[in-house]
Amino acid sequence: MTPRGTDWSLALLVALGLGTGLSTWFAGSPHSAWVFAAHAAGGAALALVLVWKLRRVWPRVASRSRWDGRTGYGLAALGLVAAVLGSGGAWSNGLDGGFGGMSLLGWHVLVGAFLGGLVLVHAFGRARPLRRADAADRRQFVAAALVGAAAVGAWALQRPVQRALGLPGADRRFTGSYDAGSFTGNAFPVTSWVADGPRPLPARAYRLAVGGEVGRPLSLSADALDRGDEIVATLDCTGGFASTQRWRGVRIGRLLDDARLAPAGAHVRVVSVTGYRWSFALADARDLLLATHVSGEPLTHGHGAPCRLVVPGHRGFQWVKWVTRVEVTADADLGAAASTVWSSLTAEGRGAR
Ligand code: HEM
Repeated sequence: MTPRGTDWSLALLVALGLGTGLSTWFAGSPHSAWVFAAHAAGGAALALVLVWKLRRVWPRVASRSRWDGRTGYGLAALGLVAAVLGSGGAWSNGLDGGFGGMSLLGWHVLVGAFLGGLVLVHAFGRARPLRRADAADRRQFVAAALVGAAAVGAWALQRPVQRALGLPGADRRFTGSYDAGSFTGNAFPVTSWVADGPRPLPARAYRLAVGGEVGRPLSLSADALDRGDEIVATLDCTGGFASTQRWRGVRIGRLLDDARLAPAGAHVRVVSVTGYRWSFALADARDLLLATHVSGEPLTHGHGAPCRLVVPGHRGFQWVKWVTRVEVTADADLGAAASTVWSSLTAEGRGAR
């Protein structure tokens, strides 16, 4: 590979890592397992091209007298890439050296996003354009094909090798998450997407409002939500744990029928007391569950009591906790993603009110 070809390959593979990494947040069903495969194979390719690059620059790095102003930046970038690859690889093999209140996967995401941003800024600001010889040359093509084949091979062999060696990584889900307390009721980790920490909702005063594009708005007590609808679904947190439970409560479709859905209704927004919300197309929303119980136990406050949303096949941050409103709207709620960040700053989100 030419030096420019190598640098461009590194930048593109980091961009692929960032793109597929962020996509993992929206990949919760087995149909989207390819996102994780692309992430892993892209990471392996990045490691291979990095070896290539290091072989070329090593003489310059090893001899202090040849250092210039840019060597420090280069070494820092190398350290970052190594941290991202190392943390990703360690996590997928079952090593969790989490610290500072975050799992190793959490750190991987943070450093990976930082590295991705840095490389994109650098590529836009400083990149030297590719020449024909860097891309449309037979040797470049063969090198890229070899790296691609080796990366896909590494991904394909990973689980069989982990199984043969008895590594915990063999038991992780396709999302990279490890099982935590499945079917044990509330005994699975309590997490928050950012930092929502509301006060417990007093059971007697609690009401769920069902409104918006409906003919008969409802105001329901917590007891009225335990209608015996059940589903078995896996809560798969982007922080790296997954818990399969039998959830009980009421299907949203039932609530919409009771509230006499109006013809204009096309989306359903589920809102927490903190302001945190997520929106779903009507057809999808009907089958979602508002759960009051988890594997036979009433939900605890940490898990969203008196009721939380259950969204099978979607990552945990869409499973809104402490739900107080279900609103039918004509349009999708484009502000929902932003609400998942600012909700932790509201008085209710901070637990101040
Ligand atoms: C420059 C950016 C990134 C690179 C180079 C990178 C690379 C890697 C590598 C090499 C692995 C190990 C894969 C395996 O062995 O199966 C991994 C795992 C993982 N990464 Fe990243 N990553 C990056 C950023 C991100 C971001 C931003 C996210 C999420 C927002 C993310 C989410 C994950 C997840 C969920 C896993 C675990 C997958 C599994 O265990 O199968 N990564 N990453």
